[in-house]
Amino acid sequence: MSKDKLWGGRFTQPTDKFVEEFTASINFDKRLYHQDIRGSIAHATMLGRQGIIPTEDVEAIVAGLKEILERIEAGNFDFSVSLEDIHMNIEARLSEKIGDAGKRLHTGRSRNDQVALDIRLYLRDELVEIMAYIDRLIDSLIFQAEENISVIMPGFTHLQTAQPILFSHHMLAYLEMLKRDRERMQDCLKRTNVLPLGAGALAGTTFPIDREYVAELLDFPAVTRNSLDSVSDRDFAMEFCAASSILMVHLSRFSEELILWSTSEFKFVDLSDSFCTGSSIMPQKKNPDVPELVRGKTGRVNGNLVALLTLMKSLPLAYNKDMQEDKEPLFDTIDTVKGCLKVFADMVREMRVNPARMKEAAAGGFSTATDVADYLVRKGIPFRDAHEIVGKTVRYCIENEMDIPELSLAEWQLFSGRIEADIFDSITLEASVNARKATGGTALERVQAEIARAKEGR
Ligand code: ARG
Repeated sequence: MSKDKLWGGRFTQPTDKFVEEFTASINFDKRLYHQDIRGSIAHATMLGRQGIIPTEDVEAIVAGLKEILERIEAGNFDFSVSLEDIHMNIEARLSEKIGDAGKRLHTGRSRNDQVALDIRLYLRDELVEIMAYIDRLIDSLIFQAEENISVIMPGFTHLQTAQPILFSHHMLAYLEMLKRDRERMQDCLKRTNVLPLGAGALAGTTFPIDREYVAELLDFPAVTRNSLDSVSDRDFAMEFCAASSILMVHLSRFSEELILWSTSEFKFVDLSDSFCTGSSIMPQKKNPDVPELVRGKTGRVNGNLVALLTLMKSLPLAYNKDMQEDKEPLFDTIDTVKGCLKVFADMVREMRVNPARMKEAAAGGFSTATDVADYLVRKGIPFRDAHEIVGKTVRYCIENEMDIPELSLAEWQLFSGRIEADIFDSITLEASVNARKATGGTALERVQAEIARAKEGR
């Protein structure tokens, strides 16, 4: 009946059973219980201090809420769909237990500012955790870079062998992406970490509340400045989902490379058995399930971003029930990103690289052609002419089924009289890599410096 609803006063008919289920959010917002109780304790404490409700009531409320918290954590709390959401489930139980004092808790507050508070409290803790997971993955990348500091592999453009690079340099490329991802999360935290409570339903409250005090109790460095915006702003959630999408795109690129590198065609890396599964029909198979799943999960995280953006698009101020739909994409993104980061950090740390195979691949595909051109430039030939000379040399190699390192000095000299015996030392894989010494280059000394820098930055 309408009478069991906290808002039942103006209703004469009970809610339709299906509508009740359709409008309820308790099945997914119950995970906000801790934040909801923490927020209510702070709100009640402030109400008492301001003389808005009696201090005995505050004591009863705080004790009652703590008991409810224990019950929920022990799995002894019956969540009811007819009480719609986590806020009303907790408040109704509180009033059941402590009577009138419980019914005073919602003074000067609305579910609209309450839910905005709960999500911000929730996301802010998750952001800190996610940043810690990013750090763990960064640690694994540094570990691999240091373990394999001078391993040479082919660098690719268009997925065609381009120039030799250090495998450690390739690992540090992902480190750069993850550092930016971390910065985006940190930045998102700044805007999430603002107290919206005190906005009431939309216009503020007639009671002499002290929002700054509540902010202090809940560890918020700032309070929101406009009540309408406080209850209708979900920018922080959209920002988080956007930052997460970018992060997942990075992980999907890394996944793709690991999948490719662990094929029998590449054999650059061997993923630990604990991150792979077999095939039920083909006995020889070891499938890279983890990177494949991470690559796949990028889709749902991108989908969650689009869901949230579409949800908020064109919504008039201030609160609209549509906004109840913000939670599932947000929670799913949090869970997915955390899971992917966690599994990736362990997988990367345990992956084994195959230096011989990488080097062999790096030596093929005319990977040092640019080094020959650069050699000619140092001998006084303009770069464009040098490019042409090397192009012809490569053609000669293709026609004679050989690779650049196999050319004799006499053959080199067919293409340019400037080429001397010192050519051989300038086109080894090591020379090619180590010549790229400018900031950001793949030279060993450069990569070592970047690893040191990354370690310092933590
Ligand atoms: N369950 C609601 C949500 O998630 C809480 C706020 C409801 N406010 C309201 N006026 N119906 O958004």
